Amino acid sequence: MGMENYADFTCKTVRFYDRINKSGQAYTAGERSTKEGERNMKQDMIVILDLGSTENTVLARQIRALGVYSEIHPHDITVQELQALDNVKGVILNGGENRVVDGAEVEVRPELYQCGYPVISIDYPQSQCEKQYQELPEETELKAFVFDTCKAEPNWNMKNFIEDQVELVRRQVGDRKVLLALSGGVDSSVVAALLIKAIGQQLTCVHVNHGLMRKNESESVVEVFRNQLHANLIYVDATERFLGKLENVADPEQKRKIIGSEFIRVFEEEARKLEGIDFLGQGTIYPDIIESGTKTAKMVKSHHNVGGLPEDLKFELVEPLKQLFKDEVRACGIELGLPASMVYRQPFPGPGLGVRCLGAITRDRLAAVRESDAILREEFEKAGLDKKVWQYFTVVPDFKSVGMKNHARCFEYMVIIRAINTIDAMSATIERVDWDVLQKITDRILAEVENVNRVCYDMSPKPPATIEFE
Ligand code: XMP
Repeated sequence: MGMENYADFTCKTVRFYDRINKSGQAYTAGERSTKEGERNMKQDMIVILDLGSTENTVLARQIRALGVYSEIHPHDITVQELQALDNVKGVILNGGENRVVDGAEVEVRPELYQCGYPVISIDYPQSQCEKQYQELPEETELKAFVFDTCKAEPNWNMKNFIEDQVELVRRQVGDRKVLLALSGGVDSSVVAALLIKAIGQQLTCVHVNHGLMRKNESESVVEVFRNQLHANLIYVDATERFLGKLENVADPEQKRKIIGSEFIRVFEEEARKLEGIDFLGQGTIYPDIIESGTKTAKMVKSHHNVGGLPEDLKFELVEPLKQLFKDEVRACGIELGLPASMVYRQPFPGPGLGVRCLGAITRDRLAAVRESDAILREEFEKAGLDKKVWQYFTVVPDFKSVGMKNHARCFEYMVIIRAINTIDAMSATIERVDWDVLQKITDRILAEVENVNRVCYDMSPKPPATIEFE
């Protein structure tokens, strides 16, 4: 399974179908209705314009580390769009190796130099700039620009970020309605909590349970969002529908495609039942934007823009987390009061347990994956491994092996445990789990999970093995 083949079907899949507005421009803050002279933003901002540098995110993080909020925008942002951001204190033109696109050097709009913001450039020779650097400035130089030249205040923190985003969402949405696919993953949960704070009942969340969720996962989405945060939540139990479609389908890519397209179909059906929705909320975060390709950088992965909602279901996007990195999204979730178990949960693939119940999914093996995964997670938590290990799960292959139970021969399934560490999921090493912990997990799986007589530990790093089995 290659990175490019992911049928990630969370609603991020639809982020591109309407990211481009009628004039062919990406939606930007410039289209938000800002009242003349109004300034409600809590935090100052330094804008980085992407002129083909591979170090935009490094620079943004350096500025944020100084306590000043920083956003990365496309090089051709207009002055109006920049002004509508409402809190810009200075601009950095960040050039680099991808500065030439289709044979032409990318340029910022010339008006940008005349609109009063201090502008410096890095690897982008422009005499209109206050200063020109060949590489990223030293910390002292960056500090001098941010604090002395731009007079920015170090007021970037999650509380201020949330208040600013609440204000921006309210400006964008007004009294209209937003729809959100709430998978229960970190990004969609945090965006849901933020939108609930911003627009309350104007938000409708749809949680589709495809029957391939982990134990108690859908229940906890309902508990947190409906019962604790009082969200307007539509819960769709589509288990039978998904399992029906997947019956006898053994090919991994085919399974992923079915789960992905069925998810879009269920979500679309729910969207059509609702009236007067103009916006689609999305948990897009900054790495998604980079992976999907910016104007100067090629696409790394395609998994966020496969499929999508039909053409006639047109929504404008609301993406308040799109400038955050993963650790910041988690901090935002904690600040918004979400449970740590939700905010710090390990990565879980969109097709869920469907790619861990190998081959054609059967209900008995699906139950075995779900129950063994629950045991593994419980024991990892007890041993403190949940905070140490990046990803850990169980897999059930579609063959049986001979064993002995109650003095009689049995022919049952096996559970494979996988626990890996990685930085970027592109390569991974296995966790050397303590023997006693593994023994305890094995004993419990053999005693508590039906139809299982054998437990194995996967020793394979990535590459050559991928993290998931399908
Ligand atoms: P592999 O198996 O390619 O997985 O080594 C790398 C990481 O990606 C996760 N993964 C997915 N995540 N949608 C996702 O959002 C998917 O379809 C998907 N498939 C795999 C996997 O769990 C691992 O963390």
